[in-house]
Amino acid sequence: MDIEKVTVRSFAKMKEKGEKIAVLTAYDFFTARILDQIGMDAILVGDSVNMVFYGSPTTLSINMDQMIYHTKAVSSAVKRALVIADMPFLSYQTNTSDAILNAGRFLKEGGAQAVKIEGGREMAETVKKIIEVGIPVMGHIGLTPQSIHKLGGYAVRGKTEEDRKYLMESAKILEGVGCFSLLLESVPKELAETISKSLKIPTIGIGAGTGCDGQVLVINDILGLFEDFKPKFVRRYAELGKEIRKACLNYLNDVKSGRFPSEEESY
Ligand code: KIV
Repeated sequence: MDIEKVTVRSFAKMKEKGEKIAVLTAYDFFTARILDQIGMDAILVGDSVNMVFYGSPTTLSINMDQMIYHTKAVSSAVKRALVIADMPFLSYQTNTSDAILNAGRFLKEGGAQAVKIEGGREMAETVKKIIEVGIPVMGHIGLTPQSIHKLGGYAVRGKTEEDRKYLMESAKILEGVGCFSLLLESVPKELAETISKSLKIPTIGIGAGTGCDGQVLVINDILGLFEDFKPKFVRRYAELGKEIRKACLNYLNDVKSGRFPSEEESY
């Protein structure tokens, strides 16, 4: 049976039909295959991989080669979902030429179908140029973790009138230059809803409430693999961290006590 691939056009159609868009992050082949098989609309190879896979405190130090490596692993597993690769810090902010070449690498080498770029109106020219060469871009405004040191923390954005205005204006400008979708991170739900209603392109929220056209979460958070803390907007659907600990402890004890391997587990 032919599988109908999710494309940026499908995103537009889902918004038109009022169908919610489900997105999760993934960073490896096996997880991506499961997400694809269950019908996830899109898989984001987020630069959050730097925190949840490499154990770094921020997303800042991941580089292009590492992001391509994870994007390739995800793309090789995916038949249906839209694969979106996150452009890492300093891969697009320096100049347009770097931005186009790096965005293009995600399609050429990583097998992704779109890229995501953090930043509002100040990134519009760069985003426009990337789209002009045929690379679909998802914008990302609100809390933008690559600017963590400028922002001074992971607090909710869009709380002052000035920031609200900046976010509303940025959303419109990013739509205007051709983004196929806009990620809204950590903004008050009323603002996210107002932005979503004012745009033709779908918004994908994380910590942005119910008024968005879709939702995204980091897979390690929903599986309980990242146990250090749980942001308010995360719903944990499993406690895999605890399960892994229990299973591995059982194995450890079985080896130490000689209960593993058994006769049946031997040749
Ligand atoms: O890197 C990431 O995982 C993100 C989240 C906002 C989903 O960008």
